[in-house]
Amino acid sequence: MRILAFAASLRKGSYNQKLVAVVAEMLRGIGADVDLAEFRDFDMPLYDYDLQTAEGLPPGAEAMRKRIEAASALVIGSPEYNYSIPGILKNAIDWISRARPMPWRGRSIYLVSASPGAIGGIRGLWQTRIPLEGCGALVFPDMFALAHADKAFDADGALTDAGARERLQNQVTGFYRLAEAVAPLCCGEETPRKQEITRALEEESRIQPPSKGGE
Ligand SMILES: Cc1cc2nc3c(=O)[nH]c(=O)nc-3n(C[C@H](O)[C@H](O)[C@H](O)COP(=O)(O)O)c2cc1C
Repeated sequence: MRILAFAASLRKGSYNQKLVAVVAEMLRGIGADVDLAEFRDFDMPLYDYDLQTAEGLPPGAEAMRKRIEAASALVIGSPEYNYSIPGILKNAIDWISRARPMPWRGRSIYLVSASPGAIGGIRGLWQTRIPLEGCGALVFPDMFALAHADKAFDADGALTDAGARERLQNQVTGFYRLAEAVAPLCCGEETPRKQEITRALEEESRIQPPSKGGE
């Protein structure tokens, strides 16, 4: 199963990108085909309805849409900014939400965060669930927040704490198994069952006008 993984940080040496790389390796170890991306691949302007109406999705959002659609599941590493979701991630979620069919819908998503602080960014992840679930994504119940991230990695990018590694591996395995189980129903071929599930997950897209660009 193909999984798109990226961190919502543009910072060189991003702790969230390091954490996502660790998750990607764990997923590969249990058989996943991981597309490890960088947020710079998805450079996009602030959401602008007029721009969308005139030109459709901008190239960076279009690139993200294609990579999401090529995957059945995602791993998103997100910093916590002021107790919440960072603007660049919310902006990307908003652009992508204008494409039809809604790319987020039915895709399993595992959320992780890393912060030099003592809480690890979990408050931001709770905020991040809201727009993703509103768009019909299947956000995995468990989330992983890495505290003291500035001291958590060795020179090779591995997590130094064995307990954290074990907890992460357990969550990653649980996520992969569940995503694998639902992918044929939610991301597979067009079947009557998939159409029924799609209808049940499409509340948010019904209240939004269709995209001019992503159809
Ligand atoms: C605008 C801004 C707000 C931040 N707010 C928080 C916060 O609420 N909680 C937290 O743990 N860290 C916060 N931080 C610190 C980030 O966790 C830290 O910069 C981290 O390295 C960002 O992730 P990255 O390394 O993947 O870029 C904030 C940083 C910035 C720039």
